Amino acid sequence: MKIIHLSDLHFGTEHDDLVSRTLARIHDASADFVIISGDFTQVATSKEFEAARRFIDDLQLPSMCIPGNHDLPVHNLYERFTRPYKKYKAHISEELTPSYQNGLVDLIGINSARRALPHWNWANGAVSYAQRKALAEFFADTPAEKWRICTMHHPIHKIADMPIDVTVFGRKRTLQCLHDLKVDLVLTGHVHHAAFDMIGDEQHKTAFISASTALSSRKRGHENGFNIIEIDEENLHVQMLNYEAQGFVETSAHSFRKSSSI
Ligand SMILES: [Fe+2]
Repeated sequence: MKIIHLSDLHFGTEHDDLVSRTLARIHDASADFVIISGDFTQVATSKEFEAARRFIDDLQLPSMCIPGNHDLPVHNLYERFTRPYKKYKAHISEELTPSYQNGLVDLIGINSARRALPHWNWANGAVSYAQRKALAEFFADTPAEKWRICTMHHPIHKIADMPIDVTVFGRKRTLQCLHDLKVDLVLTGHVHHAAFDMIGDEQHKTAFISASTALSSRKRGHENGFNIIEIDEENLHVQMLNYEAQGFVETSAHSFRKSSSI
């Protein structure tokens, strides 16, 4: 199964040229599925959401989408508090906890964006007790041989060279929960920085993959790019691509074998 992992499209700040080049590169990859880990827009306007929807349709792939902090109304506080996901649901997806299953993977998305937080920066995120419970229920019947995959917008792991500080409420409990549930792979965005980390112990290791911003001109020291993930029964291989002067180039690649100790 070949999965495209895109994040932080940020329509409203996109380069038109990069949109068409990214679509072309994804079409070339002949993938099976796309995961978009949040921040479809810059300030959550209808126009930005419409552009994001056109892009998703143009991918011509089955997709899983979850919101990011930029997908909640920014300028209209009344709407932010009363109907935070109205536009997201209208244009991107009705489902805030989407899931997908086939013979190889059990995949779930969690919404880590919040309309407000007990922190000066509401761009940060949270994972609640109820969301950890939803993860546990979702993976309760997953057979040992299948890949357990979770996506959320905010990284809950420590990324080396993280370009911004990120606070995620419930971070430690969620890391423990993912470990206890023997989740194999977590896909995140938000920091506009591609990275691969393995976290765990002898019993189980979870791979955390972060994606750069696919299309935004706001590049926190990292080029635009996305990840291509290939999974078979036992192995996972991820290619991290950056867009540079000559086109998309592979900047790093990582492989690992599924933990078989469930
Ligand atoms: Fe974000």
